[in-house]
Amino acid sequence: MHKLFAHSVSLFFILVLGGFSTAHAEIRETSVWWLPRNVNMFGHAIDFIFYVILVLTGVTFIGVFSVLAYFLVKYRARPGVPAIHSHGNNTLEVVWTTIPVFIFLGLAIYGNEEWSRMRRQTPPADALPVAVVGEQFGWNVRYPGADGKLAKMDAKKVGKENPFGVDSADPAGLDDFTTYNDLVFPVNRPIRLYLGSKDVIHAFYVPEFRLYQDMVPGRVYDFVWLKAEETGKFQLACNQLCGQGHYKMFGKLSVVPVAEYESWAKGKAPVPAVTGTSSATPVVLNQR
Ligand code: CUA
Repeated sequence: MHKLFAHSVSLFFILVLGGFSTAHAEIRETSVWWLPRNVNMFGHAIDFIFYVILVLTGVTFIGVFSVLAYFLVKYRARPGVPAIHSHGNNTLEVVWTTIPVFIFLGLAIYGNEEWSRMRRQTPPADALPVAVVGEQFGWNVRYPGADGKLAKMDAKKVGKENPFGVDSADPAGLDDFTTYNDLVFPVNRPIRLYLGSKDVIHAFYVPEFRLYQDMVPGRVYDFVWLKAEETGKFQLACNQLCGQGHYKMFGKLSVVPVAEYESWAKGKAPVPAVTGTSSATPVVLNQR
């Protein structure tokens, strides 16, 4: 018994201290013990449902385990006291089945409603389009130039030399510029993402946006959009184990005032137009 206790204590410390060291290795602007702050307009509903579920399950947990503890003591085996035979209580069972049914239905209907708002609603027409294509192990990012339009992406054309799967003659893409592991979003403006992958499954994950989307090669995901309501510096982390370098697959992501975004974008050179066969790869790519 004593040995078991000692083991549990040391296990506890290993878990807690281990938790401390990994927690400190993480790059986060806020507490690692609770949710990071939310800056996306869609995140409020996600946080709300998180807290609703936390309260529901917390109250149920405390209730169920209190009754369990009470019964364990009250009906413990005692010499000379016969066991009580119970055949259940239909009313009670109907009640404790019906209430959860309505709770789960409510959660499912609310969740579905919010999901439709986030992923099935057409992104606003004035949204800034930004293409993000994952590769082992980094993020290719493509921004529109002055015309506000990105070159059309074709999942079939995505390849080693053409991470965005674009046609280099596409007039919409002539003023596009690219970055590597570097994203800047203007605050309070809808951003429409075009997500893809060059090789294996990656995932676009920004906890402060409450946004997670897998990127399966062979597809371009054009339905994800967001609107950051606050400025800050965040991290775009890949959230699918995609190979040996998965742990270091992250990009800098900052949300800045619109004017700051505009001057940043102005300073970027457009993707060089393809004239021969050798200049097809934009200069910033493939820096591993
Ligand atoms: Cu890409 Cu993990």
